[in-house]
Amino acid sequence: MNTIWSAYIQGTQTLYRSRKLRFDDGFAARYLPLFDIPRDRRIRILEIGCGPGALAAALQRWYPNADITALDRDSAFIRFAKENHPGIQFVEGDATALPFADGSFDVTISNTVSEHIEPSAFYGEQHRVLCPGGICLVLSARKGYHHSAPCLAENEMERAFWEAVAQQDDSMKKYAVCAYPMSEAELPRAMQQHGFSSISTGYAAIDLTPDDPKYPAPLALDMIEAAHLCEVEFVESAAHSLPDCVTQEKKQQMLQRIEQKYAERRRLYEQGEAQWDTTVSITMIVRGIKKERNDTQ
Ligand SMILES: C[S@@+](CC[C@H](N)C(=O)[O-])C[C@H]1O[C@@H](n2cnc3c(N)ncnc32)[C@H](O)[C@@H]1O
Repeated sequence: MNTIWSAYIQGTQTLYRSRKLRFDDGFAARYLPLFDIPRDRRIRILEIGCGPGALAAALQRWYPNADITALDRDSAFIRFAKENHPGIQFVEGDATALPFADGSFDVTISNTVSEHIEPSAFYGEQHRVLCPGGICLVLSARKGYHHSAPCLAENEMERAFWEAVAQQDDSMKKYAVCAYPMSEAELPRAMQQHGFSSISTGYAAIDLTPDDPKYPAPLALDMIEAAHLCEVEFVESAAHSLPDCVTQEKKQQMLQRIEQKYAERRRLYEQGEAQWDTTVSITMIVRGIKKERNDTQ
């Protein structure tokens, strides 16, 4: 049983809600040309480090004829994913020792995972389980942009809370989170160095702006709710990591404050008082092909 990521790094709702928005069907046209996955035959897709399963679920909608398998080593994510997406095969396992035979997939894909896993193991295992001519897709978050609504701004109590947590929390280092970051140039180079060819890159920019009328109310409210649950889970993670620093009293104060802020944000949205808060995420998509057996290039 491994729940390190969900307990100390990013909670289930934080990952699931944010990815469900980023991989909403309304944005499919930004990803599909960059994925360039054939549709003329039954394709076997493996997602590496799937978290609670939002990308796997999007792939199931976008490629209804594909067989989708998704793997993560966090038990809580896999339990959540299995409960919510029964049509997908979710597997608890390690990306550095994939429990699959050589050549058993046509496509491997991952989102915000490459920076956490040693590159030879990350690419080597995908190369092994891909069939010749198979496609490796690596999605990596790039620097985006966030502008908060005034009603969501931190007050003094929150600032002091997060400063104290930042001074003591060593979870990122302890669990080797983001131990292998790569630039926009290093990512395609790494894929090539690990045996892939025909490398291409592309970028999908997604803006989540609840007040923009292009977003229907349910989607806009999902954006506000995703941010809300993310803040709640950050406090819970801090309480897990630092039980001596984050007392029950401090945790309750923070949670109460978060509930107030988001109740106000929802009220402003529902009354049409636009705040124009926005989150723009940029995902880099690197695509490479496992060389055919007789391809010497
Ligand atoms: C930033 S999260 C991204 C999760 C998911 N791809 C998403 O976008 O919601 C990184 C994920 O990689 C998983 N992970 C990290 N190292 C792993 C490994 N060696 N094997 C399997 N999963 C791993 C973590 O458990 C976590 O779910």
